[in-house]
Amino acid sequence: MRRREFLAGLVAGMGAVLAPRRPAGEPGLVELALEARPVRRRLLGRDVELWLYDGRLPGPPLVLEEGETLRLAFTNRLPEPTNLHFHGLRIPPGGRADNIFLEIPPGERFVYEWTAPVGEAGTYWYHPHRHGLIATQMWRGLAGGIVVRGPHERDPDSELARADDRLVVLRDLELAGDRPAPHAPHDWHAGKEGPWLLADGKVAPVWRARARLVRLRLVNAANARTLRLARADGRPLAIAALDGHLLPAPVEVEELELAAAQRADVLIRMPRDAAVTLVARPRHRGVPTPRLRNPFVLRLLPPPADVPDVPLPRVLAGPPSPPAAPVRRRTLTLAMFTLDGRRYRHGRVDIRPRAGTVERWRVVNVGTMDHSFHLHTWFFRPVARNGRPWPFDCRLDTVDLRPGDVVELDIPFVRETGRTVYHCHVAEHGDRGMMGTIEVGPALPWSGPVSSDAICAFPRRAAGR
Ligand code: C2O
Ligand code: CU
Ligand code: CU
Repeated sequence: MRRREFLAGLVAGMGAVLAPRRPAGEPGLVELALEARPVRRRLLGRDVELWLYDGRLPGPPLVLEEGETLRLAFTNRLPEPTNLHFHGLRIPPGGRADNIFLEIPPGERFVYEWTAPVGEAGTYWYHPHRHGLIATQMWRGLAGGIVVRGPHERDPDSELARADDRLVVLRDLELAGDRPAPHAPHDWHAGKEGPWLLADGKVAPVWRARARLVRLRLVNAANARTLRLARADGRPLAIAALDGHLLPAPVEVEELELAAAQRADVLIRMPRDAAVTLVARPRHRGVPTPRLRNPFVLRLLPPPADVPDVPLPRVLAGPPSPPAAPVRRRTLTLAMFTLDGRRYRHGRVDIRPRAGTVERWRVVNVGTMDHSFHLHTWFFRPVARNGRPWPFDCRLDTVDLRPGDVVELDIPFVRETGRTVYHCHVAEHGDRGMMGTIEVGPALPWSGPVSSDAICAFPRRAAGR
């Protein structure tokens, strides 16, 4: 009942409009139940069997305010073990929080509980993380978005609070008979892709904007596909946030490249009388990629004529403090099915940074196709790619590397301690061993001048004038 009320408030029809209502009861606590199970439903003109969270594709959005505690009773009704990972959130990597070493057997229930950190409002997502089964479970349909709301969404003077705020989970799909096409041997190498791109579970949806400013919280929940997104009218896209973190100010780009697991919050000022169409251009990852058959990704129709204009915000996160000097450097190599030359082994700790320090990691793709690098629990600030400074500063949890790419990342090991993983987010590659274990030791008193909020500089080019 409580759960139903909560979700009904969040999702009004298509496009997952975010308008949260709090359930009655303990203040600051949000109780939800979530079930993973096989479901038959209509998709792409067929009756198909998918594995879904609460019978929905994508899974129901989890929407919280900063500082709220989610108590999530999760039931596994799949015929095999699974678990949940809350991708991108800075929450404890153990216990009942973002514990990916847990295994929830078929028929069992586990109650997750964690608090959305203050200062971390943004767009995240959840998906299974039982090593070896991640790719097939995600491919069958298991993934959903997470939105943490903060002061920007609440302040009535903020443009973001007046925007039509939409969570859009993107993924590609191919059907074979009455189910998602099963993995073929080469899919484990290439990463599984399909010719249909689903935005919120639909091919080429058309939505009516509810405000002159639309915020699309885009989540690339594909197993492997990298998306090159652009407006069909050739106008730039304004990026407000990447991987959940607001940029200091909006940054305009001709084209947005979103690798699997990356998120971008994009702002679109709707014209009074024209639709805005988002398209996906082909992007090759060094392996054959099935062409998308979608006419477009999604289309926004102009809002009703009487809705007031909302300008693009000029400032978002605001100016950051200067970055801290890294105390230790490491190099990590990515190649097919290995990270740093080794395959994942459960229980082996590969990297042990000291809590409270900043490290600079040089990540090198020594393979022949694209790989990505994702770190749980701690974000990183990209410093340079192939020797060139990052075009604008941001905090990410996933970065994409073409063959030969060298990316330098500064990682402050602040706030959380514990044991978790880093891996390639081509889901098939992670499952086949491109993953390592990191353990950040017991918390030490933080002595440096830098907090986790203080490691971004201004982008080169702000939107607007
Ligand atoms: Cu999307 Cu290990 O994570
Ligand atoms: Cu993750
Ligand atoms: Cu990879």
